[in-house]
Amino acid sequence: MTSIDRRKLHTLYPREEKRFIAEHPRSAELYRRAQNSLLGGVPMNWMKKWAGAFPVFVKTAHGAHFTDADGREYVDLCLGDTGAMTGHSPAIVAEAVARRVREGITLMLPTEDALWVGEELKRRFSLPYWQFTLTATDANRFAIRIAREITQRPKILVYHYCYHGTVDESFAALHHGVVGPRRGNIGPPVNPAETTRVVEFNDLAALEAALQHHDVACVLAEPAMTNVGIILPDDGYWKSARELTRRYGTLLIADETHTICAGPGGCTREWRIDPDLLVFGKPIGSGIPGAAYGCTEEVAQRIAARIQLEDCDVGGIGGTLAGNALSLAAMRATLEHVLTPAAFAHMIPLAKRFNDGVAENIRVAGLPWNVTRLGCRAEYTFTQRPPRNGGESAAAADFELERFLHLYALNRGVLLTPFHNMALMCPATTEADIDLHTKIFGAAVCELTS
Ligand SMILES: Cc1ncc(COP(=O)(O)O)c(C=O)c1O
Repeated sequence: MTSIDRRKLHTLYPREEKRFIAEHPRSAELYRRAQNSLLGGVPMNWMKKWAGAFPVFVKTAHGAHFTDADGREYVDLCLGDTGAMTGHSPAIVAEAVARRVREGITLMLPTEDALWVGEELKRRFSLPYWQFTLTATDANRFAIRIAREITQRPKILVYHYCYHGTVDESFAALHHGVVGPRRGNIGPPVNPAETTRVVEFNDLAALEAALQHHDVACVLAEPAMTNVGIILPDDGYWKSARELTRRYGTLLIADETHTICAGPGGCTREWRIDPDLLVFGKPIGSGIPGAAYGCTEEVAQRIAARIQLEDCDVGGIGGTLAGNALSLAAMRATLEHVLTPAAFAHMIPLAKRFNDGVAENIRVAGLPWNVTRLGCRAEYTFTQRPPRNGGESAAAADFELERFLHLYALNRGVLLTPFHNMALMCPATTEADIDLHTKIFGAAVCELTS
């Protein structure tokens, strides 16, 4: 097996950094200016994590491409970490949004689009009732509240190294088998051990042991983990996990925010998961803020039995702008015209092409890496076999190697997600876009190993 020569990596990274700085004078200037008004010089703290001395500032983005403030063009395989899985500004959504902007943006009253979207989500995910929020984080938070309320149980259960947005309860991790705050957890309101049980993905015995306490209101889960690399469930995992949740009176919330990449009805539809609640956000409105959560008939009845009309605005489930007319117009146009079965039929083969190209380069270089795919999303990790759980995947992470590969790709016109090695396809992605990445990845690997 080939291994990475760290000394080489430590000379290649500064070379790429120098090139990046030289080729992005305008972004550098904007970043300097931003220090005076934006905390850390960025609109949101995670933007500091991009490889390179500063983030590239964007000028325009269309379809699978964007142009930065220096006029450089890129293939976008990050796609706003799924927020733009529709491609940037699909024309039909832009038109629907522009129309709605002229006709009233937010009213605290429903529009007919809400019904259309509810009916479509019902058809896709086989869950009868839907509510809308502005973010998937909020949808997860509200689904958790509902689960707690109707089960009258205090805890939730998540998988080790999951990510479900900025949901306090989910920033928990295992430390030698004991639950505590995840590394980097900023100002947790309480130790998440009080609110959360954590188990490894694909470990049914651990799941059962955790549920046996009879204090877990819900399992909040991505059907396949996507935020610590892609981790697929073992065959039959969800069937057995679902039997366990039912046996112990725990609800299942399927967070399909990223796993919608598996198909128009996400993994829930592809794998017949049958959750009690389901969350879908990010690309649902092509990047216009909006998200949704749905529930079964039984959950709906249990909610109705516990929520009083007089208190329904102060129960901790809300958001003044949630369900606004603009979000719903964007969602309708997206679901009707963009994230269609035909779009997935185009995107999934492209992700296969990405996989094949990366796998071949890994094989030729003899590196102990692998590449995994879920629908139109693909990801490589620095371990020989695809990890089976979050602990295994996190142990294989290699921050400096990852940054080098990302910067190398960025300098040659390809953007990957900043937090791991994920590539996502949108309806406008082309084979040429994928082949460009494959060529660049091959060259980077060659430089690292020759
Ligand atoms: C699986 C999953 N759920 C929920 C979220 C939260 O989405 P948002 O940040 O749009 O609230 C994320 C964000 O990355 C996610 O990956």
